[in-house]
Amino acid sequence: MDAQNLTARLKSSGLLRSQALIGGKWIDAYDGKTIKVHNPATGEVITEVPCMGSKETNDAISSSYDAFYSWSKRTAAERSRHLRKWYDLLIAHREELGQLITLEQGKPLTEAMGEVTYGANFIEFFSEEAKRVYGDIIPSPLADRRLLVLKQPVGVVGAITPWNFPLAMITRKVGPALACGCTVIIKPSEFTPLTALAAAELALQAGIPPGAVNVVMGNASDIGDALLASPQVRKITFTGSTAVGKKLMAGASATVKKISLELGGNAPCIVFDDADIDVAVKGALGAKFRNSGQTCVCANRIIVQEGIYEKFADAFSKAVQNLKVGDGFSEGVAQGPLINEAALHKVESFVQDALSKGAKVLLGGKRHSLGRTFYEPTVLSDVKSEMLISREEVFGPVAPLLRFKTEEEAIRMANDTNAGLAAYIFTNNVQRSWRVTEALEYGLVGVNEGLISTEVAPFGGIKQSGLGREGSKYGIDEYLELKYMCLGNMTGN
Ligand code: SIN
Repeated sequence: MDAQNLTARLKSSGLLRSQALIGGKWIDAYDGKTIKVHNPATGEVITEVPCMGSKETNDAISSSYDAFYSWSKRTAAERSRHLRKWYDLLIAHREELGQLITLEQGKPLTEAMGEVTYGANFIEFFSEEAKRVYGDIIPSPLADRRLLVLKQPVGVVGAITPWNFPLAMITRKVGPALACGCTVIIKPSEFTPLTALAAAELALQAGIPPGAVNVVMGNASDIGDALLASPQVRKITFTGSTAVGKKLMAGASATVKKISLELGGNAPCIVFDDADIDVAVKGALGAKFRNSGQTCVCANRIIVQEGIYEKFADAFSKAVQNLKVGDGFSEGVAQGPLINEAALHKVESFVQDALSKGAKVLLGGKRHSLGRTFYEPTVLSDVKSEMLISREEVFGPVAPLLRFKTEEEAIRMANDTNAGLAAYIFTNNVQRSWRVTEALEYGLVGVNEGLISTEVAPFGGIKQSGLGREGSKYGIDEYLELKYMCLGNMTGN
């Protein structure tokens, strides 16, 4: 199906929305301004969406604040039922949502459909967790007192989300927020607002009340500033770059908001001499080339022990060579385009820096013949720790191979960064897997596995990769306040 037919079909399904959602109403920007949403594979304009700023954001905050009063008063069972209904609708529309993701983000359709399942699973998981927000009773040091701890929703949440997972990064935040009674203003990336709007339409269809979920998009800094300035917004949750995360953290201090940050990584993927080579190749391939290398948990440095280095480099390059590049809607494509020109330039400049300092191209190393923002899946050997590609996230389909001698050296190289999100190790030695996992300064460690994200496990980083955890039973705590209640005169004397 061509892009125009697809767009028409998505429009008639009611899931291609081109207005923002405030207080349950679909609206344009107050000054009528719009921004174009492009298909990164073709450059074509899919549609235009409102380019909003502080006025619209303040109205979204007011509607969210009003909705908080009634939504937080509903029983956990009621909130759970609405979330479950939302999950059912997301799954029922898995195909259309997957198509929207491929259309605006570029990832291959099978991967996009996988994201819909992954994203919807957060809503299902938190529909269940809604009923398990337990408080506590503390043994009192005084005989006539009873001490209780209540857990209560923080209030209005500003959720600022990235383009690389247009659905899952929203549901991972909105699921736990709604489950415990918070209301939300979502600010999706201007590159990928359409999936967010479709998900919000389905939230309305699930009976989640007007104002509980709002979506505004447009001028990122105006929207961000309005969310930060408002005392009614009690929490900011953000996935994106470390630089923006630091600004949000500073901005949140003015009104002392709670904040969760899921920021950039620089994931090491350590392959020891004793690894099973097939497992290591498959794991490193998944960890590096998911979403064309555009995830915060993508392996950024593949650190290989000297005894297995040549064998691994050869087997890995062969596997990478088999990755078909193309439009995400074409059959068998495993690598789509990068999101935009700026992303492509970044990849090119990192590769250039590495080559100028002695790295060698084993595969790829240049723009793909398809043109636009397609880049060839690339493997570089002889990469050194001081090269730009080892210091910062390349966020593209380039796998740099570094060499190490000893376990101590591998741990030192892996930890030699300000980032601390994901790490991967490949070894058949059980003691080593524990020892190295414990020594790695990272929030997530995959052992003999390259795909580790799931709604049931805590996702988040340490050091400058962020604050807080998303998903799992721990993820809901980020949206709760503790209230201590002291009951006096309890012995009746
Ligand atoms: C991200 O890239 O920020 C998220 C990746 C994931 O959820 O696996």
